[in-house]
Amino acid sequence: MDFTTKLNQLARRVDQALDELVPPHAGPHAGPARIHEAMRYSLQAGGKRLRPVLVLAAAELFGKPPTSALIPALHSQPSTLNPFAAAVALECVHTYSLIHDDLPCMDNDDLRRGRPTAHRQFDEATALLAGDALLTHAFALLATHYAANPRLATALVRELADAAGGARLIGGQMQDLLAEKKSDATTADLDYIHLNKTAAMIEVSLVCGGLIGGAADADLARLRTAGRHLGLAFQIIDDVLDATADSATLGKTAGKDAKADKTTYVKLHGIEAARRMAKEQTVLALDALRALPGDTAFLVELAGALTVRGK
Ligand code: IPE
Ligand code: IPE
Ligand code: MG
Ligand code: MG
Ligand code: MG
Repeated sequence: MDFTTKLNQLARRVDQALDELVPPHAGPHAGPARIHEAMRYSLQAGGKRLRPVLVLAAAELFGKPPTSALIPALHSQPSTLNPFAAAVALECVHTYSLIHDDLPCMDNDDLRRGRPTAHRQFDEATALLAGDALLTHAFALLATHYAANPRLATALVRELADAAGGARLIGGQMQDLLAEKKSDATTADLDYIHLNKTAAMIEVSLVCGGLIGGAADADLARLRTAGRHLGLAFQIIDDVLDATADSATLGKTAGKDAKADKTTYVKLHGIEAARRMAKEQTVLALDALRALPGDTAFLVELAGALTVRGK
């Protein structure tokens, strides 16, 4: 199967798994329909599904079981071997981070994944709560679906909590806001922001896949290194796209970093140097990926494709 076919197939299976594992709008114990509607609105708006695809691809490297043999069908597979619940958990945390990132008190954006942002479609309080519920749901999924293997469940919960917490994703988001309109921001400040607001979640996606696949410690370390470099490259390209692409292509407002005077790779280094630095980070990610066991061809192609992506 060629790279693009496999990527699309995995992304569609993630969509199916999301539908299966995120609470439906209604039902006797579901609570107010509005919260579920808002959670699903942001999830189902699409997105590249990069983080869940990384979970699946990393798990598959260790051959447990080949993802191609799985339909999300979480009921029919021994759950500790099925990476789809973790994949959905990662997408839930990522989508929550986007909903909150777009709020008026943060980046104040109107467009996300080609649709009005959650607070525009619903209202600020509903967007805030939908984000909270998605974040919480991610941990419920891990605790429930991997319960038969308590060591695995605990490791997944700890890894995701670390990546999403105050020292990483949230720390990076805090620093991103503190660094707005700062004329003396350093390259160290910039790397702190990117390594935490974005790379942490990309790293943990690969690590969770590795944990589910039963990777040895040395391979988990390689996955972490690959994710760190891939994540940095990913956010550098996000900065470049903000400055060079249009809103229709991106599905989110272009040009907003310059407007908010964010500390980005484009601001500190310029577009051409930023592109070069993203390529350098990708090379480092590829070195770590190629040292892994199993068939790394898909992950290697994915890393390359992200550096030249258009959205
Ligand atoms: C957007 O992430 C936020 C960043 C970390 C740059 P993505 O570019 O992966 O967004 P979706 O999931 O495809 O919408
Ligand atoms: C957001 O970075 C990273 C997270 C959502 C954690 P950006 O603010 O650059 O993301 P976009 O450009 O709005 O997607
Ligand atoms: Mg932001
Ligand atoms: Mg933003
Ligand atoms: Mg951006």
